[in-house]
Amino acid sequence: MKEISMHILDIALNSIKAEATLLEILIEDSIKKNRLQISIKDNGKGMSEEVKNKVTDPFYTTRQTRKVGLGIPLLKAACERSNGYLSIESKLDEGTRIFCFFERDHIDRSPLGNMGDTIMSIINCQGNCELVYTYRTDRGEFTLDTREVKNILHGVDIRDSKILLWINEYINENMRNLS
Ligand SMILES: Nc1ncnc2c1ncn2[C@@H]1O[C@H](COP(=O)(O)OP(=O)(O)OP(=O)(O)O)[C@@H](O)[C@H]1O
Ligand SMILES: [Mg+2]
Repeated sequence: MKEISMHILDIALNSIKAEATLLEILIEDSIKKNRLQISIKDNGKGMSEEVKNKVTDPFYTTRQTRKVGLGIPLLKAACERSNGYLSIESKLDEGTRIFCFFERDHIDRSPLGNMGDTIMSIINCQGNCELVYTYRTDRGEFTLDTREVKNILHGVDIRDSKILLWINEYINENMRNLS
């Protein structure tokens, strides 16, 4: 069973491949409402209706090197195992939003995993893509926006290993404080 943070990394890499310049990841983790919701939204090149309809089928991919694309089908399966669902909104030249719902206390719900690692990996391979990450629980929320981080870095590369490790720790600490 794959952790949800690893699925989020896969979906975010699709957005980067689709030449997004802005990627917004929102996790809403509510014990009170017994749900875990994830939204991954980009302003990349989007999908045609045809691609969008085929994309949850594991035998569909626009990759040339391998026949099956598994990123979206695997996440969809993980949602459905916990009585949830995955939906896709996408428009050519506008962008894509993947939305996932998990029943939080379902015995087969995958663990969220290490989001600090996932965000660090996304930032490390982003081209010109800015990232806004928000984690929200019943107790509050926090956001990390790479544009704000870059503003205080005064030209130091955000992919510098010390900065990445700081971001990783910052995310995991804030998430611990909210859960
Ligand atoms: N954010 C996105 N923007 C535009 N197209 C997308 C996006 N996400 C997915 N797609 C399209 O959907 C296809 C399937 O995505 P999926 O992640 O399931 O497989 P893949 O990326 O092709 O392969 P894998 O993830 O297994 O390496 C992609 O090849 C791409 O054409
Ligand atoms: Mg993929």
